[in-house]
Amino acid sequence: MQSFTAELIMATTLPHHYYHEPAVYAYECEHIFRRHWWLVGVESAVAEKGNYLALNLMKWPLVVVRDQQATLRGFYNLCRHRAGPLVLEGEGRCRDFVCRYHGWRYACSGELLKAPGFEKDVVADPQAMGLLPIRVDSWNGMVFVCLDDSAPDLVTWLGDIVPVAAKFDATSTMHYDGDVTRQAAANWKTYGDNSCEGYHVGMVHRNLGSSMQRESIRIDAYDNGKFVGFDVSYEPGRDQSRAGKGFWIYKFPGLLLHFADYAFNAETVLPLDANTIRLRRWFWSHAEKAGASGIDTASIRPNSEQVIDEDIAICELVQRNLASGIYPGGTLSPDREPGTIYFQRLVRDALSGFAEPE
Ligand code: FES
Ligand SMILES: [Fe+2]
Repeated sequence: MQSFTAELIMATTLPHHYYHEPAVYAYECEHIFRRHWWLVGVESAVAEKGNYLALNLMKWPLVVVRDQQATLRGFYNLCRHRAGPLVLEGEGRCRDFVCRYHGWRYACSGELLKAPGFEKDVVADPQAMGLLPIRVDSWNGMVFVCLDDSAPDLVTWLGDIVPVAAKFDATSTMHYDGDVTRQAAANWKTYGDNSCEGYHVGMVHRNLGSSMQRESIRIDAYDNGKFVGFDVSYEPGRDQSRAGKGFWIYKFPGLLLHFADYAFNAETVLPLDANTIRLRRWFWSHAEKAGASGIDTASIRPNSEQVIDEDIAICELVQRNLASGIYPGGTLSPDREPGTIYFQRLVRDALSGFAEPE
């Protein structure tokens, strides 16, 4: 694994309008969001034939389903007749998809099975009128989708995250503890800037800060996988939910992974519009292993939620200030904010073709 932190020098921050202008968000939808893989759920939610999970990924309505041949498939959640929804957002189970508007029926593998009243014209070529497919894949018990056929495959996209994950237990050996969802009045980059540095920990996360050996934290940017990695150690005995080693990841554009000796969680950051994100985080833990280290797995999730809420609170205040239009720009420290410098460099590269309005 190769890290790039040493190359980072003092940098100026992104311009404030990148954080709140709808035109920037619209550009990001096509030039960033559509081109990456997105964590959308856990594999156990689509383990059985007919299990599906439906969500809106930014402006795109999607459904992931385990078809009757046990193949994991992804489609736009949109009927070929007049764009009706196949299923509502959330998880469920079905034999076939029946459009909720006029009742066209599709197999979970995507073929059109029945179009009431249209049989002769439409069902004659069921493949041609099938659901619109999207890419779907899974890794370490999590389901990812990608809307760009020319993007690299999932494992290539993950890059050096794969060898990091190999140092920790796989989710298949842990207990799945459920998920939490939050919405925040912040741009995805406000949250990304924050998640890529540990500089704020002492001010914003008093509990977390006291449970970490801060002098031993190593933050590096990894170009193979485009992520920022925090190699951390926890203070022994400080906190009921944290001990041993950890490795935190912020992967561009919106994936957080928190590996620990006895637990794992993953979070997806969905940019709903220029000023709003939805966060969803899934938790796994290893109760036996944790117990042997004197850790109580029941406290992992509330402690984690406290950290999320603290981050949201500060990010919402920063967002309000960025959106005020008076921030003249600032400076990032290569010593304290190398991850944020790297994150902003990726943003700048991705937005290099953005034409500023006259
Ligand atoms: S829109 Fe789906 S059946 Fe009409
Ligand atoms: Fe934080």
